[in-house]
Amino acid sequence: MKNMLLKPIKVGHMELPNRIFMSPMTRSRADNPENKATPLIAEYYAQRASAGLIISEGSQVSKEAVGYINTPGIYSPAQVEGWKLVTGAVHQKGGHIFCQLWHVGRISHPDFHDGKPPVAPSAINPKDKAFTAEGFKNTVEPRALTVAEIHNTTHDFRRAAQNALAAGFDGVEIHSANGYLFHQFFANCANTRTDEYGGSHENKTRFFFETLQEVGQAIGFDRVGVRLNPSAHGFFGITIDQDTIPTFEHIVERLNNYSNLAYVHFTEPMAPVDNVPYAVKEVAKHFRPRYKGKLIINCGFRAESGKQVIEEGRADAVAFGKAFLANPDLVLRIATGAKWNKWDETTFYTAGPKGYTDYPILEAEDRRPKTED
Ligand SMILES: Cc1cc2nc3c(=O)[nH]c(=O)nc-3n(C[C@H](O)[C@H](O)[C@H](O)COP(=O)(O)O)c2cc1C
Repeated sequence: MKNMLLKPIKVGHMELPNRIFMSPMTRSRADNPENKATPLIAEYYAQRASAGLIISEGSQVSKEAVGYINTPGIYSPAQVEGWKLVTGAVHQKGGHIFCQLWHVGRISHPDFHDGKPPVAPSAINPKDKAFTAEGFKNTVEPRALTVAEIHNTTHDFRRAAQNALAAGFDGVEIHSANGYLFHQFFANCANTRTDEYGGSHENKTRFFFETLQEVGQAIGFDRVGVRLNPSAHGFFGITIDQDTIPTFEHIVERLNNYSNLAYVHFTEPMAPVDNVPYAVKEVAKHFRPRYKGKLIINCGFRAESGKQVIEEGRADAVAFGKAFLANPDLVLRIATGAKWNKWDETTFYTAGPKGYTDYPILEAEDRRPKTED
């Protein structure tokens, strides 16, 4: 039987050649005053263009949305021009690429905001670290967004989505995972609001759905994906409680109403949750029966486990993170059964080509395909 990872798939408006997607990864190479993508960043993504779909690193939707140094933005004309280099290079090689739209909320630091605190659903310090120009610093107590500011942030996402299309992206992924702004609204540990944006499931997810609605209306829902990490616990300032999974079930149930949404991208637990009360241990297994659209699964997959999760009907595609970072030709390696390069953590967020565009690709003699099928 053909390896299911190599089977084409229709996602949103795109016919994709395989189900081996590249998961979004911040690489901090936009080290220029405008935080725009550069020719080096274009080279990195173009090297990985054989992915069924590339999801770009998180890209801040406004100045206020930033939380790490040297991450690219998607709000200014210069940034749109920078991203054109990337999308052009990926498309030239026949690839597809979505832009991950990002607002970090409270996972930031006053250093990024002229000394003012970052924004969040409520004034609760996540007690995490922010990566600033002077290295890691402790997060601070953020400032709660007003309702008017929440609406403005929704508009920032819409404008960022329009910018992404102007920059040549095939669509956008709304980053509503990993303890960033939308996830903060979903979580009781970060959201104690008593207005229409806190409390009930409907209220905690209102900002997210208002944003999804605006973004989808602006660029078409078949160009919009959503990322969720329901089992995050003990990091990103997030803790699971008894309302966490019901909240995510509510989100997924409502996402079913968006029948032409491109996809929902789930993450399996990033750290063990065996002893965490109320946590879902197997995310794809739990949410596959609940979500009717295209489901991408991520976290810790290898060739065999990725193939299996699709064969067992628990996901439609697999997003590979660190494996893609270290193997530009991951699709070819999976197709041929070749060995994978190891990733080097010390260069994840450093400047320049080292550990970025210099991972080796397979030599010609290693490219013999396996005699499957
Ligand atoms: C260097 C690095 C940067 C990351 N940046 C992002 C990001 O910008 N947005 C995001 O949603 N996830 C980000 N992640 C999480 C990955 O998308 C993925 O969920 C994680 O690496 C687990 O998948 P893997 O086991 O296949 O690597 C990042 C991970 C790494 C290693």
